Amino acid sequence: MNSIAFIGAGNMAAAMIEGLLLKKLISADKITCLGGAGISAQKLADKTGVKRVTTADELLASADTLVVAFKPQHLAQTNNTYTETTKGLLVVSVLAGKRLETLSSIFPQARNIVRCMPNTPGKIGAGITGWCSKATLTTSDHQIVTALLGALGKAVEVSENQMDALTGVSGSGPAYVFEFAAALRDAGIKAGLNAETANTLAVETLLGAAKLLASENKPAEILRDQVTSPNGTTFAGLNRLKEGNFRELIAATVQAAKARSEELSKS
Ligand SMILES: NC(=O)c1ccc[n+]([C@@H]2O[C@H](COP(=O)([O-])OP(=O)(O)OC[C@H]3O[C@@H](n4cnc5c(N)ncnc54)[C@H](OP(=O)(O)O)[C@@H]3O)[C@@H](O)[C@H]2O)c1
Repeated sequence: MNSIAFIGAGNMAAAMIEGLLLKKLISADKITCLGGAGISAQKLADKTGVKRVTTADELLASADTLVVAFKPQHLAQTNNTYTETTKGLLVVSVLAGKRLETLSSIFPQARNIVRCMPNTPGKIGAGITGWCSKATLTTSDHQIVTALLGALGKAVEVSENQMDALTGVSGSGPAYVFEFAAALRDAGIKAGLNAETANTLAVETLLGAAKLLASENKPAEILRDQVTSPNGTTFAGLNRLKEGNFRELIAATVQAAKARSEELSKS
């Protein structure tokens, strides 16, 4: 793989770089990173052996691909730094809510631009990233994008008009699951368990159920029905979820996140 430059050396850049190195898809000497005024870039360089630079010119001197992984608000502060320097490069952005049109105005001469929405399990290689591109990717650029996003877990291509919905499901989704885990833990405590046991039961139940769901490759409803005997305990619990309009609540949750994502990408 050709050289990759990262603007931003925080959590997301570190997850991608560590995943790429772990899978031996590229060597550390072909990766360069640039941070802000803090110490993240130096820490990342010390940990992984990638090169840390302090200017955009050094960053892009020999790069073939630029990964944009600072905070979305930093994009507006780039002025025209990247207009010429990204000529002919593949630009891959992980910035939440920054549309291809906006990215194209900052990187007008890039050979192609990819917009991604990863999620936090990407930090341990168990993420799911949605992505779309300005133009159809060439085979070699597709391989680069597959390697970069594969470092975070799985990836799915969607059209740009689906990115807000995807954000509502998988981008924000881990937080819903964490909230569910906390609710299950607290419900366990309320039902008479001690806090440590309730937490272990909640975490392991979520983990085990998610692994089973992924390994069985059957609709979630089938697995649900397999553990629900008529008038049994699970049946009683599920009825309560139904009475509380659980599905409507989740649909409204995703809609709210989608609507906020739409608002943010307009601003
Ligand atoms: N974390 C997630 O799960 C997640 C999920 C989806 C999307 N994203 C997107 O990923 C991006 C990065 O998120 P993160 O969690 O990795 O953030 P983060 O850990 O806070 O890292 C931000 C990085 O940007 C650097 N930076 C700040 N100002 C800069 C500048 N002017 N030029 C170059 N670099 C600069 C920071 O360097 P210093 O330390 O030197 O300040 C730091 O290395 C965000 O745009 C976010 O929307 C993240």
